[in-house]
Amino acid sequence: MNSYIESVDFFKGNDPEDIVATYGTPVYVYNEDIIRKHMQAVTKVITRYPYTANYSIKANTNLSILKIALEEHVNCDAMSVGEIKMLEKVGFPYGRIFFVPNNVSNDEMQYAIDRNIMTSLDSLEQLAQYGELNPGGKCAVRINPGVGAGHHEKVVTAGKKTKFGISEEFIPQIFETAEKYNLRIAGINQHIGSLFMKPDPYIAAVENLLRIAKQFEDLEFIDFGGGYGIPYHKLDDEPEYPMEEFCAALEPILDKFVVEYGHAPLFKSEPGRYCVAEGSVILSRVHAVKENNEKIYVGTDCGMNVLVRPSMYDSWHDIEVLRDGKVVPRTDMREVNISGNICESGDLLAHDRLLPGTRKGDLLCILDTGAYGYSMCSTYNSRPRPAEVMIKSDGSVKLIRHAETYEDLFALYEGIE
Ligand code: LLP
Repeated sequence: MNSYIESVDFFKGNDPEDIVATYGTPVYVYNEDIIRKHMQAVTKVITRYPYTANYSIKANTNLSILKIALEEHVNCDAMSVGEIKMLEKVGFPYGRIFFVPNNVSNDEMQYAIDRNIMTSLDSLEQLAQYGELNPGGKCAVRINPGVGAGHHEKVVTAGKKTKFGISEEFIPQIFETAEKYNLRIAGINQHIGSLFMKPDPYIAAVENLLRIAKQFEDLEFIDFGGGYGIPYHKLDDEPEYPMEEFCAALEPILDKFVVEYGHAPLFKSEPGRYCVAEGSVILSRVHAVKENNEKIYVGTDCGMNVLVRPSMYDSWHDIEVLRDGKVVPRTDMREVNISGNICESGDLLAHDRLLPGTRKGDLLCILDTGAYGYSMCSTYNSRPRPAEVMIKSDGSVKLIRHAETYEDLFALYEGIE
């Protein structure tokens, strides 16, 4: 396809140059309709049995996005007390929050206990710690099902090479610990990894978790985790994650389990990326184009501080070039490296990428930045984090988070008088 943003009318008739004239570059621009559409899709993954979708808010914690989740009847998972507080801020009831932490202190655990937030424990030691703090309580355990998958080894969250979950061989010790503290294990959860474009690894992981589930009596819920992908190569016509095919494949597996188990527990999934990735682009200005050793560098203001995924995981983000607010057609393509403004050689948005002839002053529109984009931003090189704006359903442009200022960078320092 020549242009994704034109094909979906991403800016809803707004001129991107007007948006950056008001909010500067770089800037994260969200589209409310696209986010709502994805949130609605995840609530329909399982329709035959009790089911809730938990949006995994680590993908994006902007309060306006959490509010959309609240309105679209999506529950949420939180990894930290900070994430719980973000959910409190927009009015999420505690019953709609699932706390799935890793290596937390007594204080953090107590925060969830005091609010009756269902918590999943990720090791035998954390289960015992929970038992000490809340004897007689009800909780879940995160299982490491022994197999993982994902787009990069750094996002594989199950299997033999990861810190996450309790391995199946330790299930007897889960029961011993639960008995010692009179804990009720009400649920089990897993998350095998992030970004599958085919349902197979997830379906295999569901079957595996259901096999393990039979070792637990009377579970109230089983959470299969997240990981559904989005097409990051959409300009090359990569298809969407086949959601309907996936849902259809899931049904007979659940039917069989429910018969064998004797009742249907509440099933859950935990998508992050799928809900928000396609709902955002970054607009970034080209400030310099140069040649270094026969390689052309397109130098922008979108550094690894603004979008770290390419530097951290070699992730691909499609990029469109805008001139005077209009998409430059993808003809006359040149191979370029696209860099940011950070003092690191790894500060590259793309290597050897074909772009239509790009000049100083163009805007780059970096696609699919809604998940693990802003939530992984930093102030490296003392660069304040950018603004986030939302194209609302009615076409208006709304600021949803101010850009940081230099004053914000100074705010927490002490002892320089
Ligand atoms: N549940 C748990 C327990 C998780 O650890 C994660 C992601 C999710 C759900 C949501 O996974 P998703 O549906 O978004 O794939 N920063 C990386 C992704 C890290 C994912 C970590 N866990 C990236 O930018 O690709």
